[in-house]
Amino acid sequence: MPESRAVLEVDDVTIRFGGLTALDSVSFEIREGEILGLIGPNGAGKTTCFNVMTGVYQATSGQVRFDGRPLTKLKRHKITQLGIARTFQNIRLFKSMTVLENVMVGTDANSKVGFFDALFRLPRHRRTEAESLARAKEILEVVGIKARYDELASNLSYGDQRRLEIARAMATGPKLLCLDEPAAGFNPAEKQKLMELIRKVRDEGYTVLLIEHDMRLVMGVTDRIVVLEFGKKIAEGSPAEIRDNPAVIAAYLGVDEEDAS
Ligand SMILES: Nc1ncnc2c1ncn2[C@@H]1O[C@H](COP(=O)(O)OP(=O)(O)O)[C@@H](O)[C@H]1O
Ligand SMILES: [Mg+2]
Repeated sequence: MPESRAVLEVDDVTIRFGGLTALDSVSFEIREGEILGLIGPNGAGKTTCFNVMTGVYQATSGQVRFDGRPLTKLKRHKITQLGIARTFQNIRLFKSMTVLENVMVGTDANSKVGFFDALFRLPRHRRTEAESLARAKEILEVVGIKARYDELASNLSYGDQRRLEIARAMATGPKLLCLDEPAAGFNPAEKQKLMELIRKVRDEGYTVLLIEHDMRLVMGVTDRIVVLEFGKKIAEGSPAEIRDNPAVIAAYLGVDEEDAS
């Protein structure tokens, strides 16, 4: 199979917080249509990497390019408009809005409706609203919580709130969907189900960056894996290559293996 093109390129990115180097000359790319796993022990720099990609932090040096275009100095909402959506390690939903409203907020971020259209409720606005509604329901169907669309987000179980977070990110119509430890706080069976959902989301046509510290979990779902440790990329490859990589085993798997026995 020919390699697909890079959607996002992280090019020699370093980010320092005072004396701490959270990312140290990290480079990798995310290719169209793949699920790339970004893994590493706690504190490795995974979330920092997301934050650089989504405009929350500026790289100290190096560059992130999306569709060939440098993201440096772009504001967060601009990056969302360009097509990068993310979820957060800690759930951030509008708890007093319904499930459907939470997703609609996402579709609005990308809507073409201008101020005057909205003000005078021109037909274009109504049409767009109807379209957003249909799209929002489709997305809720994909993530498996459509039946609960009219519930307040705060009434959902923790697992369904995580699903809603993913739905909301999907609603912006992103070219790249970044999920930061979406299975955090799940039991093993729930984690497995979430991985299946992520596959399904990819099969819908999304490119996915998946952060996870549970190595085994990403093995079955990702196409390629990038491993960070103390801010450095220590390995990159297929799940099988990563599993057999001595540096990864030493840094990371070794710990997991002991925990498991
Ligand atoms: N805003 C910040 N200010 C200072 N240090 C930070 C900041 N964000 C992250 N760090 C530090 O950078 C390192 C990497 O953190 P993080 O990217 O959250 O790791 P991970 O997501 O892999 O667990 C940690 O040592 C963390 O304390
Ligand atoms: Mg993190």
